[in-house]
Amino acid sequence: MFPTERPRRLRRTSALRRLVAETTLAPDDFVAPLFVAEGLSEAREITSLPGQFQHTVESLRKEVEELVRVGVGGVILFGVPSTKDELGSGAWDPQGVAQVALRTLRDDFGDELVLMADLCLDEYTSHGHCGVLRGDGTVDNDATLELYGRVALAQADAGASVVAPSGMMDGQVGAIRSALDAAGFDETIILAYAAKYASGLYGPFRDAVGVEIVEGGDRKGYQQDYRNRREALREARGDVEQGADIVMVKPAMSYLDVLSDLRDELDVPLCAYHVSGEYAMVKAAAAQGWIDGPAVALEQLTAVRRAGADFVLTYFAREIATELAR
Ligand code: PBG
Repeated sequence: MFPTERPRRLRRTSALRRLVAETTLAPDDFVAPLFVAEGLSEAREITSLPGQFQHTVESLRKEVEELVRVGVGGVILFGVPSTKDELGSGAWDPQGVAQVALRTLRDDFGDELVLMADLCLDEYTSHGHCGVLRGDGTVDNDATLELYGRVALAQADAGASVVAPSGMMDGQVGAIRSALDAAGFDETIILAYAAKYASGLYGPFRDAVGVEIVEGGDRKGYQQDYRNRREALREARGDVEQGADIVMVKPAMSYLDVLSDLRDELDVPLCAYHVSGEYAMVKAAAAQGWIDGPAVALEQLTAVRRAGADFVLTYFAREIATELAR
């Protein structure tokens, strides 16, 4: 007997495949993570993230101009300060590197693309943790919330349309929402890193921002355990209740089940962060000639959309947006 079901009919030509494709991927589905460093005289390539740079404010403007040209939907900014302290005060200093850069980008580009700021302390603390420490070296959740409020105000004031708390403190979204509203920033959007896992895939990022956690420490006391799936739903629901406008799953490829769960259960916009280690793995294998880098990147970013994300934060934003425009 010959098969009566013949799905291959619909795969015969590329026009047919395009017509019946269930998932689309376009440049405006991308948010590019960008690093701006204090005290640099020119942009410096990050060894473990080929093609990504620690920018000066000047080189950052040029990069964003190019991202706008290829139609990328947004950028998320990370500051790399030249000095750090116990509290991470550079994170809310109006003259801090991220705030200076945000103001410049706001002036240059207005609302041409969505301007986001990562909201955390780890790049700014001498000990490398995402919050303030108690005497015993553990992170003090509630004392940290007050500082996150200050960072949110500094970022909103400098022109961020979206603040993205990534520290995984309990109650961070509610604390930031209250601080913003009390200061009249009721239009500032909160993108919550809701389900952020303690992952081995953040290594290149920590190089990029010069973060080393004291005494070989880790973030397992606040980021999620990768053995847990249901817990992500609890985190994300909590964030939505506290006022998150958008929620994120991070990393991406090892957490597509989580992304799919959140898509089923929540009706807020959803995104995923294709993180530094995911980018670096593709780049490294491609450099060896072992895989076709752009093809794998396209496959992975499409898979993130297929699993339920509305958009994706990715270091591939510029490269793949350029590819899609061809
Ligand atoms: C914390 C933060 C991290 C990343 C984004 N925000 C690092 C961490 O949690 O250690 C990682 C992003 C990446 O790996 O691309 N502020």
